[in-house]
Amino acid sequence: MEWQVIDEKIKRWMFEAREMILASFDTKLDINTKSNRNDLVTNMDKKIEKFYIDHIHESFPDAKIMGEESEKDALQDADELFFVIDPIDGTMNFVKQQDNFASMIAVYQNHQPILGYILDIRNNKLYWGGKAIGVYCNFKRLKAPQNLTLRDGLLGAGLPMILNDEYHFQEIAREASGVRMYGSAGIEFINVLTGKTLGYVSRLHAWDYAAGKILAEELGLVVQAIDGTDIDVLSSKVVLVSTRSANEKINQIINA
Ligand code: IPD
Ligand code: CA
Ligand code: CA
Repeated sequence: MEWQVIDEKIKRWMFEAREMILASFDTKLDINTKSNRNDLVTNMDKKIEKFYIDHIHESFPDAKIMGEESEKDALQDADELFFVIDPIDGTMNFVKQQDNFASMIAVYQNHQPILGYILDIRNNKLYWGGKAIGVYCNFKRLKAPQNLTLRDGLLGAGLPMILNDEYHFQEIAREASGVRMYGSAGIEFINVLTGKTLGYVSRLHAWDYAAGKILAEELGLVVQAIDGTDIDVLSSKVVLVSTRSANEKINQIINA
């Protein structure tokens, strides 16, 4: 199948999902916890995921789907299309700030990653693209970010990296110009794609990094599991996305 056929539909679904999410700001959310008191799910996370899944089933009946809140098909079982969905990424921000959250979809075809989408809901900016297609913010093509060294830029991170000094993270943080924490993997990936930060490191599930990985690699950034294991199986990992220079320095610190 031509990627343009899939692309046109996903963009339509995502902007429609955005309208539904914005409309929910005027309603009372139904909020529940999952693995811990700060791991939230709302009626909107479930509604948006169902909205995407219903459309995928209707348009691509044979597709397999991995969604954060429901379907958990495996990539190896997909004959042709495989979709990875994070309906609302940064649910805590969605609830507390109504800002700094995203919606994400990644598409695999014949087991290969082909398209990634991160929609910054508040700013109405869709970062999208894929292998040999380029990366765009809405209609504008993004240039590859500068290959900054760790010393010369800001690093995004998940809080446990700092609290638990995972993988010598405190030393990594001291080497950088500073650390920033936005509470949404999607927004963090956008910051790296656009050169606002030189990298981001956090423990993530497949739906948190699948879209961002496709876009980052297309822009020449390096995406790795920090323990050196294979990242393609779409499991939960401590993921590092960064410039090539920062990647080298971070690995030096980890392995020292
Ligand atoms: C979470 C956010 C957060 C990251 C967590 C994710 P969710 O996603 O991206 O920034 O640190 O690991 O689970 O649960 O809001 O979709
Ligand atoms: Ca989510
Ligand atoms: Ca997420």
